[in-house]
Amino acid sequence: MECKIPNHLAIIMDGNGRWAKNRELNRSEGHLEGSNTLIDIAEYCFEKGIKNLSVFAFSTENFKRNKEEVDYLMNLAMKLLNKKLNRLKKQNIKVLFSGRKEGLPNNLIKAIKKCEEETKDNDSGILNICFNYGGRSEIVDAVKNIMDKNIDKDSINEDTFKNYLYNDLPDIDLLIRTSGEYRISNFMLYQMAYSELLFVDKYWPDFKNDDIDNAIKEFNTRERRFGK
Ligand code: FPP
Repeated sequence: MECKIPNHLAIIMDGNGRWAKNRELNRSEGHLEGSNTLIDIAEYCFEKGIKNLSVFAFSTENFKRNKEEVDYLMNLAMKLLNKKLNRLKKQNIKVLFSGRKEGLPNNLIKAIKKCEEETKDNDSGILNICFNYGGRSEIVDAVKNIMDKNIDKDSINEDTFKNYLYNDLPDIDLLIRTSGEYRISNFMLYQMAYSELLFVDKYWPDFKNDDIDNAIKEFNTRERRFGK
C-alpha cells in the first residue's frame, strides 16, 4: 500500500529539562542537546519528503522561566541562526519564524530577519520555528492585523483568515509531542483543527530518525474523516 507522508508535521519538543536532570546535568545542557536533535530531525523529515515542519522552540509563557534559562535559550537561538541552520539552508529549505518580536533581543530580531531573507526563495521545504509564540496570541494578532487593514468583514472566511496569521501554512496533518505529556499547550491552535495527534513517551533529546519512521507508520493507520 502507498505510504502517505504528512504534508505538514508539527512537533512540540518537550522534555529537555527532564532529560538533563536524569543525567545530573543542568537544564541548559538539555536544551543544547535538544537543539542538535532539532537539526538532525528536521534534516531527516525533509529527506523523507515532509514539505512543512513546524517546531515549538519557545512559548510566550517560557519568559516566566528564570532569567538564566531564558538568556540561554535566546543565545541558543542565535547559535542556531548563525551556524546550525546552515545544513538546512544547503538542503534548499525556507526558514520562517512565527511569534511576537516584542520582547526579543534586537540582535535576535535582526538575525531572524536575515535568515528569513536569505532563505525566502528556497523551495524544497519549509521549517517554521515558533519562537515567542502562543496559539491564542497568533489568532488575536491576526484579528488586529485585519482591523488595521480595514478589511471588509464579508471577505473574511476560514480560508482567508489564514492569510493574516504569522505565516501562510497549510493545516497540520500530524502533531507529535514528546516527553509523555498529553497536552497541546497553546500551540498552532488554528492550524491544528483536524490534525492527528501522537504523544511519544521519550524526552526530546532522545527522539531519533526511527521515531519519525514510526510516526509516519502510525499516521498511515489513521483514518481521517474531517468530520464527514
Ligand atoms: C521543552 O523542554 C523545551 C523548550 C522549552 C525549548 C525547546 C528548545 C529546543 C528544542 C532547543 C532548540 C531551539 C531553540 C531555538 C532555542 P522543557 O525545558 O520544558 O523540559 P522539561 O519539561 O523536561 O522541563
